[in-house]
Amino acid sequence: MKEVSLSLIGFGNVGKGVAEVILNKNQYFKEKYGLDIKVVSITDSTATIWDPEGIDLKEALEIKRSFGSLKFWGSEYDIYDLKPPDVVEEVESDVIVDVTNDKNAADWHLKALNNGKAVVTSNKPPVVFRYRELLETAYKKNVPYLFEATVMAGTPIISLLRNALFADSVERIWGVLNGTTTFILNCMEEGMSFEEALKKAQELGIAERDPSNDIGGIDAGYKGVILHNIAFHPFDFKKASIEGIERISEKEIQENIKKGTVTRLVTLVENGKVEVRPIKLPTNHPLAVKGTSNVALIESDLLGELVIKGAGAGVKETASGVVSDIIRASLETKHL
Ligand code: HSE
Repeated sequence: MKEVSLSLIGFGNVGKGVAEVILNKNQYFKEKYGLDIKVVSITDSTATIWDPEGIDLKEALEIKRSFGSLKFWGSEYDIYDLKPPDVVEEVESDVIVDVTNDKNAADWHLKALNNGKAVVTSNKPPVVFRYRELLETAYKKNVPYLFEATVMAGTPIISLLRNALFADSVERIWGVLNGTTTFILNCMEEGMSFEEALKKAQELGIAERDPSNDIGGIDAGYKGVILHNIAFHPFDFKKASIEGIERISEKEIQENIKKGTVTRLVTLVENGKVEVRPIKLPTNHPLAVKGTSNVALIESDLLGELVIKGAGAGVKETASGVVSDIIRASLETKHL
């Protein structure tokens, strides 16, 4: 049995989802991969709990549910005032799991990689803004840097582009990559108001903490840049052309329905170009997804068209991508 230790940084919706999957599927991972996954530290915005023997995840989830933060933990574990950069430096663990929204997380990702630790993240800005530096450091240090859940949650578009299609040259990618906007547009097609639909998306935990990033197309732009970084080369986010769904009225949506069309927030990625804008599509078009589904249509020279579709947001759906990366990092890391 290979034992792997994790530092879980971030204990909001996604962090709790990751803890639940590790707790509930521990036996499955032991049997299928010979991996015993142990979480040795958990950090939320108030505190870090740390136990080299492994934290009782059931209890951690209960404390978080009952009290809202880890600083109220009882006497059993020591509570530390460690921030993510300190955790990366001081806690002995094999894999750093970043499920925060920290815009400056690339600094401590680099620190972790330089210390020989694998990094798994669902946090988009580091992969959007510091891609080259992070990937070069991971390569130099020979440790995995994995970010499946940054685009399409657990639906494996990143693995598809990074670990398959080696012979193909990608020509373009058309994607519907933001679950919140599709969910809102879809609810409005069914007669709900924009405000009601947004509230529902927030209750389901699919909208970003600041939903203007979803509505304004920034989140879809981040995802487009990440796909560009992998399929082509690092792209400057400032050069992306972005329009959100703010200007789409309830009246327009009802008119669409009469004509057999739907509007979706589409991201187009081509070499040197990332564009996000609402596009009208026939209801039977492959990009006309519903609910929180995401889709990407990849055009390449040899294969032609390839469509990948699946869940693009949600707690367990995002945990699927994060935990999949944790397992991959654990299996790939030689020194474990
Ligand atoms: N807010 C994002 C979305 C979550 O709606 O797609 C997943 O990245």
